[in-house]
Amino acid sequence: MHIGIILDGNGRWASDKGLPRSIGHKRGAENLETILFECKRLNVLTVTLYAFSTENWNRPIYEVKALMSLFKYYLNKKFTSLHEENVRVTIIGEVSPFPKIIKKYIKNIENLTESNDGIQLNLAMNYGGRDEIVRATKKISQHVLDGSLELDNIDELLFSKFLDTGQQSYPDLIIRTAGEMRLSNFLLWQAAYSELYFSNKAWPDFTRQDLREAIEIYTNRSRKFGRVTHVKKKPSNF
Ligand code: FPP
Repeated sequence: MHIGIILDGNGRWASDKGLPRSIGHKRGAENLETILFECKRLNVLTVTLYAFSTENWNRPIYEVKALMSLFKYYLNKKFTSLHEENVRVTIIGEVSPFPKIIKKYIKNIENLTESNDGIQLNLAMNYGGRDEIVRATKKISQHVLDGSLELDNIDELLFSKFLDTGQQSYPDLIIRTAGEMRLSNFLLWQAAYSELYFSNKAWPDFTRQDLREAIEIYTNRSRKFGRVTHVKKKPSNF
């Protein structure tokens, strides 16, 4: 099972308590550890977290800085311990605008965990679904231009392989916290047939029990309506 999570409501969680928004992000990051642990316990195979969207650069500078500090700490310290748990960490999104040190930590953690075959953890950083589709289109166009790909060979399966999620399965369930009911540019292509679950709780308040509830509702829905097979498997050179 693949679960995508839109971690929303950190800012509101903090403001409601009269705290700076950065404290909300810190608590949000701490909650990731709890929820990841529960995902592992529940045998979830892939977790994709919306950590930083292409739009998040527009936040006040102090908030962007606070998020960058958290990324540094988690990528270089906290998440490296996931290696012992056999977790494979992959970053999806366009990482070039991040500070050099973060790009270095990203490379390190991806290399360190590359051969792990436990949970696949995708961190969406400077990620936008439309941006991902445009980047995939450019990569495919380049192959057509240099003659290594025929136009007629472009189909959904081939296209999906050029997305940042590559050969990974599509999310079965997408959870969004804090009451908003939209995808906000998260996994636009991959979410075509995902079940959506919205919780009113802010992300820092989202518990293991809430996760179990979301999965239970998902399971009941897919028992009732059946799953949709979205991509036909066909051999390809890519
Ligand atoms: C949305 O809350 C959340 C974010 C913009 C960032 C999510 C980041 C984390 C949970 C922490 C760091 C992550 C990692 C991978 C270490 P919001 O600020 O939009 O909340 P609001 O809607 O209440 O303002």
